[in-house]
Amino acid sequence: MSVFLIDGGIPLKGTVRISGAKNAILPALAACLLTDGKTVLKDVPNLEDVHTMCNLLASLGARVNFNVEKREITIETTSVIEDTAPYELVNTMRASFLVMGPLLARKGRARVPLPGGCAIGSRPVDLHLKGFSALGATITTGHGYVEARVNGRLTGARIYLDFPSVGATENILMAAVLAKGQTVIENAASEPEIVDLATMLVSMGANVTGAGTDTIRVIGTDKLHPTEHMVIPDRIEAGTYMLAAAMTGGEVNIENTMADHLKPVIAKLREAGVEITEEFNRINVRAVRRPKAVDVKTHPYPGFPTDMQAQMTAFLSQAEGTSMVVETIFENRFMHINELKRMGARIKIDGRTAIIEGGVQLMGAQVRATDLRAGAALVLAGLCAKDRTEISEIHHVDRGYEAMEQKLRALGARIVRV
Ligand code: EPZ
Repeated sequence: MSVFLIDGGIPLKGTVRISGAKNAILPALAACLLTDGKTVLKDVPNLEDVHTMCNLLASLGARVNFNVEKREITIETTSVIEDTAPYELVNTMRASFLVMGPLLARKGRARVPLPGGCAIGSRPVDLHLKGFSALGATITTGHGYVEARVNGRLTGARIYLDFPSVGATENILMAAVLAKGQTVIENAASEPEIVDLATMLVSMGANVTGAGTDTIRVIGTDKLHPTEHMVIPDRIEAGTYMLAAAMTGGEVNIENTMADHLKPVIAKLREAGVEITEEFNRINVRAVRRPKAVDVKTHPYPGFPTDMQAQMTAFLSQAEGTSMVVETIFENRFMHINELKRMGARIKIDGRTAIIEGGVQLMGAQVRATDLRAGAALVLAGLCAKDRTEISEIHHVDRGYEAMEQKLRALGARIVRV
């Protein structure tokens, strides 16, 4: 297994280009199942999770061609004959569960292994299933699989989500676009990735309004047609590089990003004393002084994103003063903290709250990535630490960060993958 070796202490300087969003491309790939013919997705990042989703679509009978150099995926779905997703792929990546809505809508039946929990939490899918049954599907579970089946067509319904779940909103939306009649999803998630999915569905001929608000309205259509779609830039990758610049006392231009999607991160960094300049599709981050401690609480969009919590915890270990971080979304998303403490961070955990004593000089150490964003947090810590940090299990990082060591080296960081 490869590891990252990082020699910290270099202020990052230069320009980094952000890739297409992992959490937009995964639902976009699932949405291809809603139609026959050839769909083209553009500005696709070369990520482990993207390859996993491509393999899943291929296992259902689609013909998938991922041209990594051109950053383009072509998906031919006329030959989708299967309606069962294989266990080993769903077990690798929870987002595989997003094929359930499209398969149910298109074929009237979908069998998908119940996704297991993962490092950050139990990750139930009850809201997804509640939505499918409201649309007229019969849900049965057994032998680790869940099956949704409908005779004929799904019927539009009014669905209230107990929690604004991103995945449930996406899955239900993809089922509703081919249902008969109108569907209203209330207390829906409003993340930019939801808006991006709705944009793609509308370009396929769907009738969707309200994406980006907490109420999404759908008028079902009989058939959708293939489309070409370019996914939005990855706001979490962008936020991660913003913190890298701020933590190392550098100055970095983050290109191909939408400041509008990063408001809570920009607000918190400005509160911490980081100088941030926003331009049309670029953000300039300049660390003019040691950052000040700030308090952070994760919330569904437009609140502070849970996917930035681990990276922010690492950043606050360098701030002056004591910070408080509260993780309200997932029940076990502090796995990075024990690893950061091995590097000298002074952090106390009390339930869902982490108290971070700032101003600590982190020391290089051997640490382990436990999940995708925890791995990113450890890379950030390594960039500031004295001497050498060795990070193992970096396949977690490869799931969501394209060419991370190349992008960091281009900014002056001393990082290699061995
Ligand atoms: C998406 O996961 C993202 N993944 C996650 O990013 C992100 O952390 C999360 O949204 C929150 O923003 C993708 O988009 C592929 P949720 P998802 O359903 O859809 C509870 C990353 O690092 N819940 O919004 O699984 C659940 O337990 C990944 O890129 C239910 O109770 O997140 C959790 O506490 C990690 N019942 C909360 O909602 C359900 O049916 C948020 O989950 C569904 C969810």
